[in-house]
Amino acid sequence: MDANAQKKAAAEAALQFIDDDMTVGVGTGSTVNFFIDALASKRARVKTTVASSEASAQRLRALRIPVSELNDTDGCDVYVDGADEVTEHLAMIKGGGAALTREKIVAAASRRFVCIADASKLVGVLGRFPLPVEVIPMARSFVARQLVKLTGGVPELRAGVTTDNGNLVIDVRGLSILKPMELEADIGLIAGVVENGIFARRPADVLLLGTDQGVRTINRPK
Ligand code: A5P
Repeated sequence: MDANAQKKAAAEAALQFIDDDMTVGVGTGSTVNFFIDALASKRARVKTTVASSEASAQRLRALRIPVSELNDTDGCDVYVDGADEVTEHLAMIKGGGAALTREKIVAAASRRFVCIADASKLVGVLGRFPLPVEVIPMARSFVARQLVKLTGGVPELRAGVTTDNGNLVIDVRGLSILKPMELEADIGLIAGVVENGIFARRPADVLLLGTDQGVRTINRPK
């Protein structure tokens, strides 16, 4: 099975977590696009959705699935999103699509987080995928220097990318993130950082991993 078939299988498996009248948080990326397509079959039964990016909101609307602002809801019953890397403890790196800040907000405002991914995303240690950090434009150089000091990694501005919030993204290469909760918090303390792509303090609750043997379900260890 190729990666796309694995993504599609994981995305379709996420429908089991969608009950009638739910408010559904919808993430961003190619795996989530398969989920949005599958969700169209339940469009009459969901209460509404909250999208983590303009791109996902557009795709939802194109399929006549209702979309609301997070502020107009009391949070989401479930949030379905992909990952760039995920561990067996369900900590993740996200933000390959530059939507990390809105993704982290919707994840925080959701009662359950279902991660959907192809098998290549499962890792022992986070960090081979460059860590995205969203920064306020005027702080770009300062934040890059602080990231070198804090992480020892190599920051690089993502060329030609402006986030939905009007900010820039710095990708940090060369990391081996042994303490994701600590690093997530420490990067967040740098002035000018809006968010970083470590999702460890609010990890996923369940991972649906598309594999050649079918969809594997991994629950977050208690
Ligand atoms: C978007 O900013 C990311 O966090 C995505 O969730 C992540 O990059 C996964 O994308 P794919 O599903 O396209 O691999």
